[in-house]
Amino acid sequence: MKIAPSILSADFSKLGEEVREVEAAGADLIHVDVMDGHFVPNITIGPLIVEALRPVTQLPLDVHLMIENPDQYIEAFAKAGADYITVHVEASRHLHRSIQLIKSFGVKAGVVLNPHTPVESIQHVLEDVDMVLLMTVNPGFGGQKFINSVVPKIRQLSESIKEKGLSVEIEIDGGINEETIVPCVEAGATIFVAGSAIYNQDNRAVALQGIRSAGEQ
Ligand code: DX5
Ligand code: ZN
Repeated sequence: MKIAPSILSADFSKLGEEVREVEAAGADLIHVDVMDGHFVPNITIGPLIVEALRPVTQLPLDVHLMIENPDQYIEAFAKAGADYITVHVEASRHLHRSIQLIKSFGVKAGVVLNPHTPVESIQHVLEDVDMVLLMTVNPGFGGQKFINSVVPKIRQLSESIKEKGLSVEIEIDGGINEETIVPCVEAGATIFVAGSAIYNQDNRAVALQGIRSAGEQ
């Protein structure tokens, strides 16, 4: 199981330190939420921040693009040092092309599904991706409540990956904490994003390890 703290809930005035802290606490990836104010009702960060974070950590940078026209920005994020780039199915008009574009820069490619988007929408690209990210909140903000009805989707996706004999990671994003991680692990997810459940806590190491051990039981 991998834990990916989302810097969306970090203190942006000292972002480098915030990333180093969760790395020391045992994080597996750093999740970077990119929002454009169009695809989602919030604006966050761009390639400049990814570039600034690249030398700060050894961990893979997992860049979650919540933006319209993702193809237009994939090269910039790849060159800034992203290790994973994920694009929303709902935002990409030519999803297969977006995936190939990400991979052309030697970056791992993933697709993201909003809570209401069916798993069937990606069945024809499943063998082309390294990761599928299932949103368990409506994207746009940290600290929202986990949407339980996504759990059967995790199971369906996990079965479909097994049936096809693929090794695709299933990442879960939104409302993950010590309680909500449990059904997600059972359903077959492998990477867990947690923003507020780590960064809004006084002791981030204890919070991260608490989530991991809850998931491992
Ligand atoms: C939501 C973002 C998430 C967010 C998760 O749009 O994609 O990565 O940071 O935050 P929590 O863990 O607080 O739900
Ligand atoms: Zn995210």
